[in-house]
Amino acid sequence: MIITIDGPAAAGKGTLARRLADHLGLAYLDSGKLYRAVGLKLLRQGLDPADAGAAARIARTVGIGDLDEAGLDDEATAQAATLVAAYPEVRQELLLVQRDFAAHPPENRPGAVIDGRDIGTVVCPDADHKFFVTASLEIRAARRLNELLERGVESIHSRVLRDMKARDDRDSGRETSPLVPAGDAHLLDTTGLDPDEAFAAALALIEQ
Ligand code: CDP
Repeated sequence: MIITIDGPAAAGKGTLARRLADHLGLAYLDSGKLYRAVGLKLLRQGLDPADAGAAARIARTVGIGDLDEAGLDDEATAQAATLVAAYPEVRQELLLVQRDFAAHPPENRPGAVIDGRDIGTVVCPDADHKFFVTASLEIRAARRLNELLERGVESIHSRVLRDMKARDDRDSGRETSPLVPAGDAHLLDTTGLDPDEAFAAALALIEQ
C-alpha cells in the first residue's frame, strides 16, 4: 500500500504521515529531507546552491542513509533545498531514490507513506491513497515558529512567515514538478485541526 501526502511547508504533513505509517505498519519517507540533504552537502562543501551542475553532482551521492544529519532542519538548509529542488537533474536523481523506497520499503514493510510536494503527482501517481494537506499561512508560520523555539533556535514570527512564503511561492511556481494537488487527492485543511483530529480525518478517508 502506498499513501502520498503533499502540501506546503509546515502544513502538518510529517506528523500525519508518521502517525499513519505507525498505525498501518508502513515505512515512512520524508522526501523533503532528500532535497535538504542535497542543500546541506552543497553548503558544507562551500558550493553555491545556484550552481545547477554542482547540485546535480551532489544529488547523485545522496541516499536514504543521509537523512539523519544534524543541520537538515536549519532554515539555511531549507532555503538551499528549495533552490536545488527546481533543477530537473536533481529531481530526476532523487526520483530514483524515492521510487526505490516505494517499491522496496525497508524492513519488509507492506508499503510506505511518503510526504513531499510532488509525491501524488510525479513520484507515485498510482498510489492507493493521496492527500493534499494545507493550512493557512498564519497557522503554518506559527507552527514552524513553535518548532524552532522548542529546538532552542531564536526566531521571530515575521521572519519565519516571510521565509516560508518565499519557499511556498518558489515551490508552487517552478516549472518542474510544482506543488499542485493531484486530481485524485483528498484535500485536508488542518487550519482548525489538532494532530489527533487530522489523523482521524485521514484514517476515516482511507477506511471509507
Ligand atoms: O518541512 P518543510 O515542509 O518545511 O519542508 P520539506 O518538506 O523539508 O522540504 C524542503 C524543500 O524541499 C521544499 O521547500 C521543496 O522545495 C523541496 N521539496 C520538493 O521539491 N519536493 C518534495 N517532494 C519534497 C521537498
